[in-house]
Amino acid sequence: MVASVNTADSFDDLMACHLDAGRKAVGPCSIVIFGASGDLTARKLIPALYHLFKEKQMPVAFRVIGFARREKTDDSWRAELRTALDQFSRTKPVDDAVWREFAANVMYCMGDITDAPAYQKLEVMLDSPGNLALRKNMLFYLATPPSQFGEVAGQLHHAGLLRRGNGEGWQRLVVEKPFGHNLASASVLNNELTRFAHEQQVFRIDHYLGKETVQNILMFRFSNSIFERLWNRESVDHVQITVSEKMGVGGRGDYYEEAGALRDMVQNHLLQILALVAMEPPVSLEAESIRDEKVKLLKSIRPLKPDAVATQVVRGQYFAGVVNGLTQPGYRQEPKVQPDSNVETFVAVKLFIDNWRWSGVPFFLRTGKCLPLGASEVRIQFRPTPHVLFAAACGNKLDPNALTLRLQPNEGISMRFNGKVPGTSVAVRPVRMHFSYDSEFGAYTPEAYERLLLEAMSGDATLFIRRDEVENAWQIVDAIRKGWEGKPLTNREFYAAGTWGPVAADDLLAPSGHAWRDPQPIK
Ligand code: BG6
Repeated sequence: MVASVNTADSFDDLMACHLDAGRKAVGPCSIVIFGASGDLTARKLIPALYHLFKEKQMPVAFRVIGFARREKTDDSWRAELRTALDQFSRTKPVDDAVWREFAANVMYCMGDITDAPAYQKLEVMLDSPGNLALRKNMLFYLATPPSQFGEVAGQLHHAGLLRRGNGEGWQRLVVEKPFGHNLASASVLNNELTRFAHEQQVFRIDHYLGKETVQNILMFRFSNSIFERLWNRESVDHVQITVSEKMGVGGRGDYYEEAGALRDMVQNHLLQILALVAMEPPVSLEAESIRDEKVKLLKSIRPLKPDAVATQVVRGQYFAGVVNGLTQPGYRQEPKVQPDSNVETFVAVKLFIDNWRWSGVPFFLRTGKCLPLGASEVRIQFRPTPHVLFAAACGNKLDPNALTLRLQPNEGISMRFNGKVPGTSVAVRPVRMHFSYDSEFGAYTPEAYERLLLEAMSGDATLFIRRDEVENAWQIVDAIRKGWEGKPLTNREFYAAGTWGPVAADDLLAPSGHAWRDPQPIK
């Protein structure tokens, strides 16, 4: 044993408990990206793979093959990716030597995804006599519209590249959202994929699960006895989950017209956050144990009948306003949006979880575009104390305790409690205790896609969505859509860009004497 000087930092490091010590090393593999000419590849996938390579987390031997229709050579594709990396890399400038070494493993396969010979060409590219593992272990990343998932899986299967249940080595499909547009279409997609691959080979992405702070929800809850014992109906008054965005829909009007905020954000990101915040402790940290608990939680959400939708869900749409000092056009004036569109750019919903732990505790979820601040937070608001002692001085101004998990940006956790204001008079006011990721751990925060790609390569499905999760989430969302059917937006549901959503959203909390607590900019 080597003696070391025990500085405070090294002591904390010694106390770090590595839960993934048994994690499989990532062996040699090929990554094939379908839809390689798209935005996702240039903005997220290639930067993530480059960073994994830079940090020596990629397998010793690997290959990235982009599959798309446009005519390109390996070199022209690499040049394109390099330009994008200069723009989207989370570390700048891009390291030339590292890029060159990485790019030597990057290739391009021109082909149409409906064209069988294109897959034969791909097979030839995948053949690598020098390293058989590159042909046996394959991650197929479907960055294509969902309508093409079944086609790609089928073609891969017929070309002998994808075997159900793996064969020698492993083959996995990574699929992007949107995973269907309702329960029925999601089930169809699931059936199409599982004709050619086992459920265990299908990795459905929700990029929120790749975020450090979202992963920390379970660590925080289940490794700290002081909080977990308060995490129930006895102590918690209500929970607020806010995912707010400053940006409008930009150039994605056509997609958004089909999706709306409910399908785009609530079906996946918000319900996933809710599941992690509210689920029961899993029996182990295995993927299936965690996903079992998330499914149980989604199943315990009280189904919303159409009349409950009217009182428990508020939607909204932004009209022209000012965000960050800049004029923002209204949603109906955005490119590729119908001038009389009824699509929601904001949703707020009040949900109840009918289980032992959460009986009677409302969960308020909201998300919207063109809000004053881009931030995601979970706020656990605890029950107030009986006000007997401070009633005279504070009345109902005594703020109840709250714990806020700031998921992004300025990632951290803060606790709000009351303290005496120093002085001769008795004055009590809320104060804050704050943990910031940045000051504790430094600025290193890997992008969600880095973690997700690494997990998919190593075959750990914990951070991916299982079939029953996706289907249960759609069931919740479908019930809300049913309640909206045939009902155009009313005046109270419009909000000016740059404000915190429609006034109607306040009505969800007001009857119980509560109000939304808007995320604050943190300097
Ligand atoms: C995506 C949605 O899934 O998440 C976008 O389609 C949204 O509309 C984005 O802007 C938000 O992700 P993040 O990581 O920027 O919070």
